[in-house]
This record gives sequence, C-alpha cells and structure tokens, in this order.
Amino acid sequence: MAVAMKSCALAREPLYVQVCELLIRQIADGAWKPNAALPNEMELAREMGVSAGTVRKALEKLETDRLVVRRQGRGTFVVDQAAPEAASRFDRLRRSDGEPLTWSSRLLDHGGGEPTPSEQRMLQIGPGDRVLEVGCGRGLGASSVLRRDPARVCGIDLMPEQVARSREANTDPRLTFEQGSAAAIPFRDGSFNRLLSVEAAQHFEDIPGFARESHRVLEPGGRFALATFFAADEHAAPELARLLDSFATGLDLAHPIGGVQEGLRAAGFTDIAATSIGEHVWRHFDRWLAQTEYRDSWGRSWIPLVERGLVDYYLLTACKSAV
Ligand SMILES: C[S@@+](CC[C@H](N)C(=O)[O-])C[C@H]1O[C@@H](n2cnc3c(N)ncnc32)[C@H](O)[C@@H]1O
Repeated sequence: MAVAMKSCALAREPLYVQVCELLIRQIADGAWKPNAALPNEMELAREMGVSAGTVRKALEKLETDRLVVRRQGRGTFVVDQAAPEAASRFDRLRRSDGEPLTWSSRLLDHGGGEPTPSEQRMLQIGPGDRVLEVGCGRGLGASSVLRRDPARVCGIDLMPEQVARSREANTDPRLTFEQGSAAAIPFRDGSFNRLLSVEAAQHFEDIPGFARESHRVLEPGGRFALATFFAADEHAAPELARLLDSFATGLDLAHPIGGVQEGLRAAGFTDIAATSIGEHVWRHFDRWLAQTEYRDSWGRSWIPLVERGLVDYYLLTACKSAV
C-alpha cells in the first residue's frame, strides 16, 4: 500500500511528527486493520520519501501512545483498541484481583451553572471560535461548549471506541470527532483559536509533546486551557502509587505541575497561569464516591493526599503570542 508524504516545504512540525500523523490517519481510515502488520521500516521510508531513522522515531512515538506494538524480530502491529485490555485501559477502578469492574450508573446528585466570571475570562470561548478538545472521551464537554456559540468544536481521543461513542451521542453538525493522540494532533498548523483538555492530561505520556502540538495547532493569539490533577512535585509519585491504584497501575501518571508549566513554556506559550481548583472538585467527588458501592475503595484516599499537599486539581491557562 502506497502512502504519500504531504509536501512539507512549508510545514513547521518535525518530519517524524508528520510521519506519525500520516500513519495515524492510515490506521484510523482502516488501511491497516487491528492486529495487522505494518510494512517494515525500510518500505515505509521508501513509500514516504523519508529516512528509516525518521520512520523509526515515528513508530517509537506511536508505540508510546499504544497505537502500535513492536515485536522483536516479527515487526510492528496495529494495537486492537477494542481488545479488552486496551478498551479498559482508562477505566479507573479495578477489583482487588485486578480485573476491570463492570459498571452501571445511577444519577445521585447533579449541580451545574454558567462558568464564573473568572473562569470565563480564562477560557474566553465565544461566537465564531474554532475549538479543539484533546482527550474528549465521550464528547460531553465538547458538546457543552456549543452553548458558547463557536463556529466549530472538534474533539480528539486516542481511543477509537471513544470517538465512535462521541459521534453516536453528538449529532450537531458543528461538532466533529477524530481519533488522534495528544502528542501527534491530526490537524494542520493554526487550525484552531481555542484548545482545551479536561481530565485527560494525567494519561498523556508525553506532556512536552502535547504542549508543542497544542502550540502548533493554535493560531497566533490562540488560547489554551487545561483542567486535571497533577502531582505537587517529583517526590510525590511513590506515595501516590502506594495509596491510589490508578497511579500504581500506570493509568494515571504523576506529572509534577511545575514540569507541565515548563513544557508549556518550552513549547512557546506565554501568560502561563496555574490555579488550584481542587476546592471545587475533591469534596464533590468524594461525596459521590461515598454514596456508591466503592465507599471503601482506594478512591477515598484522594482527599488525605490532597491535604498532605501531594496532588491537586488545576486549571492551567496559556496563550500563543499574537506575532
Ligand atoms: C478521563 S477521560 C476524560 C474525557 C473528557 N475530557 C471528559 O471530561 O469527560 C480521559 C480521556 O483521555 C483519552 N486519552 C488518554 N491518552 C490520550 C492521548 N495520549 N491522546 C488523546 N487522548 C487520550 C482517553 O482515551 C480518555 O477518553
């Protein structure tokens, strides 16, 4: 199967990121089915007109994002995202024997409202905006952005089944969903003027790559907003892994908040601000958990760890300078 590299004379992203994008698109379009072997590095390099080293670097990145798996002496294979071990990768709670829990849900409590004036100032999504959500899950957040009257909202998620669920649940024509990785966003430079990500970055293996890609797909003057939990510093990781299964299993990664800010700075963002919003998150989450059958689970350890200053929930905002 021939794959053509786009003309990259004007493209600003590194060549291996372009190769990643192209390979992701081929996988998403079904050119290589789940579990299928990709052509070898030399063949891909020849077809794309790049060096074997560039292809290798791109495949390493796709392996980090768990889109492909490389087997010694056998080749590179497309990960079957619908296989139970892949599909349950982002399910947070497990039984004590490690098996995924089977969920049913019942609404216990509900609260909501317009963002506060300070949140509105930080997000600044309004009429005509082009918005990207990275790690959109089932698209609930992306669809709620429609209230702000944007021109379009696109959600990307690493997991094809999340993209399929989002497409099924959200039919507004301004809303689209694509498969894509935070560290290889499948859009051209400057495609959006707002980028947000909600409770997803704790899964991203490559935060500096996510920051670079976010900066690239934003137009000059574009705004970035990210909300999720981060570790206080690099010393917090062992204690988080001891008390919270999601860190112990590697589902959540203990990215220190300072490192995330540094990643944004290195990518070229300015006006970087991190605000703790934990007071609006932890108590409500704990109250919800206490009403479920998981009242005695490890999930109740969040608050003690927050109180010890090891982890917190943040809103991070940044700008891409206008020039
Ligand atoms: C906890 S869910 C949050 C979903 C949504 N933002 C919300 O608030 O409901 C995290 C999502 O991040 C996605 N994800 C994890 N790693 C990713 C990556 N490297 N690139 C893009 N999405 C990723 C997961 O598939 C999952 O759907």
